Amino acid sequence: MNIFIPKESNSVETRVAASPDTIKKLVGYGCKVSVEKGAGTLSKITDEAFKVAGASIASAKSAGEADVVLRVLRPTPAEAKKYKKGAIVLASMDPYGNEKDVAVMAKAGLSAFAMEFMPRITRAQVMDVLSSQANLAGYQAVVEGASHYSRTLPMMMTAAGTVAAAKCFVMGAGVAGLQAIATARRLGAIVTATDVRPAAKEQVESLGAKFVAVEDDEFKQAETAGGYAKEMSAEYKAKQAELVASHIAKQDIVITTALIPGRPAPRLITKEMVKSMQPGSVLVDLAVERGGNVEGAKAGDVVKIDDVSIVGYLNMPGRIAASASLLYSKNLLAFLETMIDKETGKLSLNLEDELVSATLLTYGGKIVHPNFAKEAVPVSKKAPAKKPSPKSTGVAK
Ligand code: NAI
Repeated sequence: MNIFIPKESNSVETRVAASPDTIKKLVGYGCKVSVEKGAGTLSKITDEAFKVAGASIASAKSAGEADVVLRVLRPTPAEAKKYKKGAIVLASMDPYGNEKDVAVMAKAGLSAFAMEFMPRITRAQVMDVLSSQANLAGYQAVVEGASHYSRTLPMMMTAAGTVAAAKCFVMGAGVAGLQAIATARRLGAIVTATDVRPAAKEQVESLGAKFVAVEDDEFKQAETAGGYAKEMSAEYKAKQAELVASHIAKQDIVITTALIPGRPAPRLITKEMVKSMQPGSVLVDLAVERGGNVEGAKAGDVVKIDDVSIVGYLNMPGRIAASASLLYSKNLLAFLETMIDKETGKLSLNLEDELVSATLLTYGGKIVHPNFAKEAVPVSKKAPAKKPSPKSTGVAK
C-alpha cells in the first residue's frame, strides 16, 4: 500500500499530516510511505528525519500513485484531480460552503474522509482532531494575548514596587477555553470564565478559576445530548451582555472561544465593551474563522480599537506547528489503523463502521455523506450517523 504525505498547498498552513513516529508505525505495517520534499519544514521536521523513520522523499507527482493521502487541509480541486481513483484521503475537509470542492473529490473517485466529523465516542478520542488542535489553540491564545499585553501576567513584588496580576477572562469553556484557563493560571493571571453549559461550571472551578454566568432556567438546559451548546434566546443574550459588559471593563486579557455547531459564532463582545477596557488590554478571538465573538475582530490580523488590541489570527494551532503536527498526525494514524488489515498490511474499508459512516464524504464517484448528498446514497445499511457539527480546524480560504 502506497501512502503519500504532501506539503500543504495553502500558504497559511504550517502543519504536516505525518511525523517520524507515525511513519515508523506505517512502515511497520508494510506500507510504502512517501513524503513530499519540505513537507515538514514549517513543523520543524526535516526530510532527513522522515527518511530515517522509513519514508522516501518524493515530489508532488507521487500523489498520483498513492492509495492513501494524508493531509491537514482538503486538497484543492487541481490536487484532487491528480489523485488515483479510489484513493483514500484523510484531512480536515471543511466541507460546508465548499460543496463544489467536495463534488470534485467525488468525481475523481476519491474516498474522502472529513476528520472533523469524527464522533465524540470513547473509541475515537485518539482520532479527535478538533480536540487535539483546540487544546493547543487555547494554550497559544494565552501566549499571543500575553505577548500583545503591555504588562506582566503574574503579580510581582519587587524592591522597586509591586506589579499587579493581570485579570484574564475566558469566554467559552470547551476544550480550547479550559486549556486557556489552565495556561493563564500557570502564568499567574487571575482568571474568570463563562459558558452557557452548566457542566462547564465545575470544570472551570476545578482549574481554580471563578465562573461568571447568567445561571437561569435556560442556562440549566443549554447543553445538547452531544455535549455542545445550544443557540440561546434573545432574552438570555441580553442578560448575558449586561453581565459581560460590567465584567469586561475590569479585565486585561479576554480570550473568546465560543462556538455553536452549525451556526455562526455568537457575538459576545461589542465595540462599546472593547472601548470600556483599559489602554493596553488585549482580546484574542479564537472564533474569528467562524465570524468572530468580538465585534471588530479581523480574520488573520491584529486590530486596535482605541488602545485595545484584538488578535484575530487564523490557524492558531499552526502557530505552534511542531506540536500541532505531532498530535494531528497521531489522530490520522489512529483512524487509518482501523482500515489496515494488520496481517496482510492491505487496506480494508469497513463501511459499516460508525467512524467510517460518520466521516466519509465521497465514495465510489458519489457524495455519500447524508449532510451533503442531494439524494443520500447510504454506503452502510445502518442508519447514518447523527448529524455532525460543521466545525473546522482549518483556515478560512
Ligand atoms: P465548541 O468548540 O463547540 O464551543 C466552545 C465553547 O463555547 C463550548 O463550551 C460552548 O458551550 C461555548 N459557548 C457557546 N455559546 C456560548 C455563549 N453564547 N456564551 C458562552 N459560551 C458559549 O466546544 P468544544 O470545545 O468542542 O466542546 C464541546 C463539548 O464537547 C464539551 O462538553 C467538551 O467537554 C466535550 N468534548 C467531548 C469529547 C469526547 O467525549 N470525546 C472530546 C472533546 C470535547
